[in-house]
Amino acid sequence: MSPLLEVHDLHVEIPLPHAHLYAVRGVSLTVDAGESIGVVGESGSGKSITLRALLGLLPRPAQVTKGSIILDGVDVTGLPERRRTKMLTDAMSMVFQDSLTALNPVMRVGDQIAEVPRRRLGMSKRAAHARAVELMDQVGIPEPERRFRAYPHQLSGGMRQRVCIAIALSAEPRLILADEPTTALDVTIQAQVLEVIDGLRRDHQLGVVLVSHDLAVISQTCSRIYVMYAGRVIESGSIRQLLSLARHPYTFALLRAVPDPDLPVHRLLTIPGQPPDLTAVPAGCSFAPRCALTEPACREVDPPLTAVPKEPDHASACIRLETASQWLDWAPVGVPDLVKKT
Ligand SMILES: Nc1ncnc2c1ncn2[C@@H]1O[C@H](COP(=O)(O)OP(=O)(O)O)[C@@H](O)[C@H]1O
Ligand SMILES: [Mg+2]
Repeated sequence: MSPLLEVHDLHVEIPLPHAHLYAVRGVSLTVDAGESIGVVGESGSGKSITLRALLGLLPRPAQVTKGSIILDGVDVTGLPERRRTKMLTDAMSMVFQDSLTALNPVMRVGDQIAEVPRRRLGMSKRAAHARAVELMDQVGIPEPERRFRAYPHQLSGGMRQRVCIAIALSAEPRLILADEPTTALDVTIQAQVLEVIDGLRRDHQLGVVLVSHDLAVISQTCSRIYVMYAGRVIESGSIRQLLSLARHPYTFALLRAVPDPDLPVHRLLTIPGQPPDLTAVPAGCSFAPRCALTEPACREVDPPLTAVPKEPDHASACIRLETASQWLDWAPVGVPDLVKKT
């Protein structure tokens, strides 16, 4: 059976007035029905551009220059643009970080949820209203009939994000693309919203792509992770594989940067240095300038994503992937145990 979504070697470039920015440089990923995958990486690593490219929602003047998108085994890449956009938007809906910007401030939230059922699915006004109330109930909005009439500013951030999820669901997608959906929320509400998305995945066999800069968020609900750095996937694998023995120093550094609840805040670790300028990516591994383990070979070729021996579905783009266990010496503070589920 083919996966719900397959992306192969996606490249996105952004022509700027005096330079050319290589925002996404060969990203491949797959999502099965009922599966939640996580895409994690620091700000600027190309996560949002990747998601937007999947939906044909790239900001001008960004453009896909290479790669293919396969939905249910059908390669949509070469289809005429209108047909392709329809197939992609029928299959996938997006949830954004900032619910206040995503929602129309002068329209009642219920009407915003009812819009797609009414306009795109052709329901009567009454049926669309009932569908909106049902969706609000599904995403855990209490008293949906009453809240139907609320305006976005009258709801809390967590409730607004639930409204955005209800809108995404209203198009009856098979995949939800969620771009930092909980970043604007405080930790308790964050967990609730992630649970709503995960419940929908379980109940409706939805595929979920969850994007976050925060590995702790990703590890709460995703079963597989793609780690992005400078527009590339530098490591991918099951959450267990990555958390128990990361095979790329960048993943390792990200794990160390996750705040440990037992440490005082001032000891929170960050990764020293800056990601490369994507208009002039240096030769070799793009993490090499920040990596404590860099050797001369790292500056010569950019290592391809390579399967880890004896670990199915685990891959790393580091020339030292086989000696990763020795990196533990490099991490004076233990990697916090993030594994919450079996
Ligand atoms: N509209 C745009 N114009 C120019 N550069 C952009 C635009 N959007 C994103 N970029 C650049 O593309 C790269 C990837 O951005 P993005 O996908 O938003 O990263 P992330 O979501 O991982 O933080 C960054 O270098 C960013 O500066
Ligand atoms: Mg982003």
